[in-house]
Amino acid sequence: MSNIAHDYIEEYIRGLIPQKSGHIKMMEDYAKENDVPIIHPEVAQFLRVLIKSHNVKRILEVGTAIGYSALIMAQACGEGCEVVSIERDDEMYNKAIENIKTLKMEDNVKVLKGDALEVLQDIEGEFDLIFLDAAKGHYDKFLPLCLKHLKIKGLLVCDNVLFRGMIATNKLLIRRKITIVKRMRKYLSHISNMPELETVVLPIGDGIALCCKLEVDNS
Ligand SMILES: C[S@@+](CC[C@H](N)C(=O)[O-])C[C@H]1O[C@@H](n2cnc3c(N)ncnc32)[C@H](O)[C@@H]1O
Repeated sequence: MSNIAHDYIEEYIRGLIPQKSGHIKMMEDYAKENDVPIIHPEVAQFLRVLIKSHNVKRILEVGTAIGYSALIMAQACGEGCEVVSIERDDEMYNKAIENIKTLKMEDNVKVLKGDALEVLQDIEGEFDLIFLDAAKGHYDKFLPLCLKHLKIKGLLVCDNVLFRGMIATNKLLIRRKITIVKRMRKYLSHISNMPELETVVLPIGDGIALCCKLEVDNS
């Protein structure tokens, strides 16, 4: 139970999404068996629709884990796409590289090893879409670094922003998560009120924030 949508709604929506097969399915099974938190099926589908409808070709991801979402996005992007993903954990990084090789996507998906707060400083160029899916308590720190790399009209997608419902109500709050919850509430309020962003928070998966970068006239 995600505490975001009713179980029957989630199950119904998931039932509409075509089942994955081959190595992608094996990655889903691996993630389940090894407690690796990968995107929920409806979030994967949401990203696929965004990518295809906005002719997204260059993607930046913060938080690779085993490479599942990076590969899902690369497949949706198709020929000529580039996904750059950042991961700090050695074991996750190695597993992601292995999965990218198995799917022969080395030319399209690159994983940069290190802390995103440092790696993001060295990345060059602009991206059509940025997917933020790393340490929830640090989204505020990732934000300016991500926005620097997002083109005007580009999309920023942030995952886990409703964090098992805890962000929306104290009734679900687990005491030891209070710092993350407070930071995320502040982050959501911030991105909802920035003049340079148009933002919507959606109750799918563990909560998604979708932001579009606007051209702001500073004159
Ligand atoms: C939720 S998982 C990513 C799942 C992946 N996007 C997917 O759906 O397949 C978050 C990952 O972010 C990594 N991470 C957390 N904070 C990070 C940071 N500051 N820099 C780089 N990686 C980070 C963690 O090691 C973890 O593997």
